[in-house]
Amino acid sequence: SHDIYVLGIETSCDETAAAVVKNGTEILSNIVASQMESHKRFGGVVPEIASRHHVEQITLVIEEAMNKAGVSFQQLNAIAVTQGPGLVGALLIGVNAAKALAFAYGLPLVGVHHIAGHIYANRLVADMKFPLLSLVVSGGHTELVYMEEHGKFQVIGETRDDAAGEAYDKVARALNLPYPGGPHIDRLAHEGRVTIDLPRAWLEEGSYDFSFSGLKSAVLNTLHNAKQRGEHIDPKNMAASFQASVIDVLVTKTVNAAKEYNVRQVLLAGGVAANRGLRAELERKMAELDDIELVIPPLSLCTDNAAMIAAAGTVLFEQGKRADMTLNADPSLEL
Ligand code: KG4
Ligand code: ZN
Repeated sequence: SHDIYVLGIETSCDETAAAVVKNGTEILSNIVASQMESHKRFGGVVPEIASRHHVEQITLVIEEAMNKAGVSFQQLNAIAVTQGPGLVGALLIGVNAAKALAFAYGLPLVGVHHIAGHIYANRLVADMKFPLLSLVVSGGHTELVYMEEHGKFQVIGETRDDAAGEAYDKVARALNLPYPGGPHIDRLAHEGRVTIDLPRAWLEEGSYDFSFSGLKSAVLNTLHNAKQRGEHIDPKNMAASFQASVIDVLVTKTVNAAKEYNVRQVLLAGGVAANRGLRAELERKMAELDDIELVIPPLSLCTDNAAMIAAAGTVLFEQGKRADMTLNADPSLEL
């Protein structure tokens, strides 16, 4: 048969994940073991704890992905694994599991960039139409990526300081909300009103870069000053005001870039894509443009998973890209 079966493995942060994808588009299994509960009480991901969980979970998760897919290792065409960026100790668990399996079964090995994975999550729900633009927003990344063809990535904008999700998590912490704070801010924002004037970092004219640390500091200062004056700020209104600022910048820059680069499609990716306000505003603004299709994957494919790594890995495999047994985790891998 000409079908291509790829096992994907992802361990870059706090999810141990394995998935089998057919022909780069069809999910046969998608197993994610989250460590969220273990990190919660520390208010963030603790690298040492992450590595330990990955070691404990990786074999089981891969086994479950293979069983659920009903595919044997002999039927696989390749193994794709997240090579970076991410936590080095966490990445190493996935990379070494992939190398061991590739060696044992004589299978080709493909190293995948984590962001390429997030972008290719979209191929699991829609055909990719080039040229396209992808907005990748997660706890670790805020990037606008332009693609002319499969496997070719051009970063046209990125954050100069905090990632969007990171800003959400830090502001949430200041509002005494649990980690990860994004979903809590999102919920509060819908109950509140935009009453506080917060900055928007547009940066230089025409720049598609982002900056969220100034906004984060403005929130912290406003809360601090109010407390000193004995004034009460409604967390709902702070959440609504903060979220409005983040969404304004993300959506405006994405829409401007989509126009300038004349793309056929805009793809949303990463954990912050779960944000209801962001989805709604992007949908509203994109609807004003003619002929640019907007794709937003379901939440389970926006957050870290291995189906997206298998999907990206399938394209690279078809393009002849191969890693060998010297494949190493690279915490600051470039796209
Ligand atoms: O992609 P992801 O699961 O992991 C990384 O690769 O970082 O993204 C996690 C991030 C966290 O910062 C979390 O607070 C944020 O996504 N997030 C949200 C929402 N749901 C998750 N941010 C804003 N609104 C949400 N609804
Ligand atoms: Zn991610």
